[in-house]
Amino acid sequence: MQVVASGYNGMRISRGNNAVLGRTNRDGGRSNDVTNRDQEGWTNQDATQDLQERNEELVLANERLVVDQRELLRQQRLVVLGKLVATIAHKIGTPLTAISGHLQLLLEDPQLSSEVNQRIQIIFRQTHRLNTVMQDLLNFVRTPTLELEPVSIPQCLEQALQLFLPIFDKQSILLHTDYQASLPLACADFLQLQDAVNNLIDNAIDAMPHGGQLRVSAWPQDRQDSLVREPGICIEIHDTGIGIPSDCLESIFQAFFTTKNIGEGTGLGLAIASEIVQQHQGKLSVESAEGQGTTFFLWLPVWSEKTS
Ligand SMILES: Nc1ncnc2c1ncn2[C@@H]1O[C@H](COP(=O)(O)OP(=O)(O)O)[C@@H](O)[C@H]1O
Ligand SMILES: [Mg+2]
Repeated sequence: MQVVASGYNGMRISRGNNAVLGRTNRDGGRSNDVTNRDQEGWTNQDATQDLQERNEELVLANERLVVDQRELLRQQRLVVLGKLVATIAHKIGTPLTAISGHLQLLLEDPQLSSEVNQRIQIIFRQTHRLNTVMQDLLNFVRTPTLELEPVSIPQCLEQALQLFLPIFDKQSILLHTDYQASLPLACADFLQLQDAVNNLIDNAIDAMPHGGQLRVSAWPQDRQDSLVREPGICIEIHDTGIGIPSDCLESIFQAFFTTKNIGEGTGLGLAIASEIVQQHQGKLSVESAEGQGTTFFLWLPVWSEKTS
């Protein structure tokens, strides 16, 4: 604070001195005559006004300084908070993943009575919800570094969908997949891409509490940017759920925007997904009709030896 303030003062003093000189008449005495002019044509009135302006500038600069200092403190607190959240999320997330895995294995047991099966599905769904919250927090506080590799999109999507199969079952969601056979490999980080897709599927599930259809498809699609045509792949995730009201569409990618109840949504899923997609030089867009359903389009560049 001192450095900035003194830097600013220094400037003022040198310019201020000119103004004071301007108010001194030839024989060194001070004059009250406002029409008295120095060699530069300054009057007392000019000098007073100049000083006033510089004082106002100084007040403004000080106010900006206070705001900047507060922001700096806030940023420092956020860094500490980020570390704390990452530690807690990691510690809670690891056992939660283990619980989910065991529940999934239990659900595969054909000897389970339907009542027990139902109960385990409920536990699985709730555990999954907790897992998502933890994962959202973890992903939000860490800055991911991508490990780009040639990725088979069908393999990545299938692996992501696998985790959700018991939930689709429980929630009467019918899944259709359609991957074009000629699909090239994408230039992506397999796990990061899976995180982004998980968040989109999670939202689709939440949008269909009483069942519906989920269609996951992928096809080759070039992107035309001015004169350059870039080969890519489009992944489409379409649900027949509640849809997104048009006045919410602009906000859904913002961090912490959620229409879900406390404890059910963090508002981080789409912010994380779009950040991941942006890091891939890709594009995430949405189309939705309230009461009819929502479609997310995720575009990624194809793998080429030049990108390796
Ligand atoms: N498939 C979807 N159908 C309906 N609404 C959606 C869908 N995907 C996202 N949304 C809306 O976008 C909001 C933000 O989503 P997200 O960032 O994942 O946060 P969260 O799921 O924690 O609320 C959701 O609360 C919801 O209102
Ligand atoms: Mg979400």
